[in-house]
Amino acid sequence: MPDLENPFQETLLSRHRAEPCTVVIFGATGDLTNRKLIPAFYNIAACGDLPPQFKVVGFARREKTDEVFRTELEAGNRKNSRQGHNDELWASFSQCIHYHRSEFEDPAGYVNLKLQLDKFDQERGTPANRLFYLASAPEAFKPILEMLRATGLNEGVGGKWARVVCEKPFGKDLATARGLNSVVNATFKEEDTYRIDHYLGKETAQNIMVLRFANALFEPNWNSRYIDHIQITCAENLGMEGGRGGYYDTAGALRDMVQNHLFQLLSLVAMEPPTDLSADSVRDEKVKVIRALRPLIGPEAVGKNVIRAQYTAGSVDGVSRVGYRQEDRVNPESKTEAYVALRLFIDTWRWQGVPFYIRMGKQLPKKATEISIHFKKPPQVPFATKNLIKNSENTLVIRIQPDEGMAMRILCKQPGQAMNMQQVKMDFRYSSSFGKASPEAYERLLLDAMAGDATLFARRDEVENAWKFIDEIEHAWHQSDNPPPMCEYPAGSWGPKEADDLLGLDGHEWRLL
Ligand SMILES: NC(=O)c1ccc[n+]([C@@H]2O[C@H](COP(=O)([O-])OP(=O)(O)OC[C@H]3O[C@@H](n4cnc5c(N)ncnc54)[C@H](OP(=O)(O)O)[C@@H]3O)[C@@H](O)[C@H]2O)c1
Repeated sequence: MPDLENPFQETLLSRHRAEPCTVVIFGATGDLTNRKLIPAFYNIAACGDLPPQFKVVGFARREKTDEVFRTELEAGNRKNSRQGHNDELWASFSQCIHYHRSEFEDPAGYVNLKLQLDKFDQERGTPANRLFYLASAPEAFKPILEMLRATGLNEGVGGKWARVVCEKPFGKDLATARGLNSVVNATFKEEDTYRIDHYLGKETAQNIMVLRFANALFEPNWNSRYIDHIQITCAENLGMEGGRGGYYDTAGALRDMVQNHLFQLLSLVAMEPPTDLSADSVRDEKVKVIRALRPLIGPEAVGKNVIRAQYTAGSVDGVSRVGYRQEDRVNPESKTEAYVALRLFIDTWRWQGVPFYIRMGKQLPKKATEISIHFKKPPQVPFATKNLIKNSENTLVIRIQPDEGMAMRILCKQPGQAMNMQQVKMDFRYSSSFGKASPEAYERLLLDAMAGDATLFARRDEVENAWKFIDEIEHAWHQSDNPPPMCEYPAGSWGPKEADDLLGLDGHEWRLL
């Protein structure tokens, strides 16, 4: 029986049960399927959570047999499976994988796909639910969705459901996101549309709600009265390896990471408690945060609150790195930022006057994503403060990746006669506390999509409101008469000096990671 006093209890504790279905992956010979999707399904199978009569059909244009496709995926699974690779399990799991050759734009390919899915249904003796996973470039979404509609594959058969999962990037601005949304929603209802943001599938991101709403220690203090400021950092120690420069140079740090992943983290940290944990209650509260962001309009406001930068040559971990503009497939005169730092305000009762600082950068000294909550200092500290280090406020650090966990920095008395204080750390690590690695984000998200739980997927209004905010910044950078400057930082440093100044003006510093 759920505890009616606590609406969070049942949904948080129970596992969603994935329903029997056939998954069709469009773009199934690509990197995402090989590295993430098939290993996720394999690990779901290893945990015994794959629904009965499950099938996955890979859709791509190169000619190959089921056997060749399975062999290619096996090699990927050996490398990428969270729980390792077991030959016996793979032998049985791989029998549910099939390949379907077709161009995305070829109507005949969808007629044949329908025949193949119908044949599976006949073998099962019952129609199956269908999950269509768009693991293709976003330009391919439109033809794929139109063909699904034309063949009626978007309609569930015999009372079964049909759903679509869309990969990122979901648009490159508000206009393209709206265009994509119209195409998607012309084929699938919003409640059958699952826009992936893999950050939401991470255990630590989900834990933010538990931390905030299930701990009396934090919830009463989670507001402008007690919190001085909040930082969200996503640091990457890589550049444009693996041919990534071509895509990245058309996107940049703000579009690639902030509009989606970091705004999702911001929403979870800043949202009001939802009335329950249904997908819409949670997403209603998250979207209110994005809507309440104080707009940054025009080059002056953007220049004051947003710093963009590119890295110059330097070294990370002792390895020399070229500058951003010298990277493979990057325009030597590129105006795309590889680093961005933002100073934001959320105009709600709870967050009045509390700055939220977000930074994301490539070629920084280490790979880490974390949120740090910096509490206000007590009004008066009646102890010796001469040995107090700077930034000695209580800080709660939520490590999203790697080394998932949380740490709290508090002041303690140093042993000895004098009443001297020192900052100490209380640390919680998922790996040591729970004794096992957390499931991969894609495992959780695929299970949820198969179970019909859209809580951890972005809703249409979340995506569009985030783009609306981001578009103003992009506009000031690329279309105004006096755009704010592009700053520089050496690869291997923590970003441009101007980003330090952004916090310095408020008397703050970026947390040392
Ligand atoms: N890779 C990642 O880690 C990652 C992470 C997050 C999001 N994503 C997103 O996921 C999507 C897929 O990424 P990816 O890295 O897997 O891409 P990818 O490696 O470039 O693979 C593209 C896939 O699309 C197929 N394809 C392309 N044009 C086609 C056409 N006209 N008809 C039929 N099939 C066609 C290719 O088939 P052939 O091999 O037969 O040509 C291949 O299977 C992208 O939107 C990307 O932004 C990827």
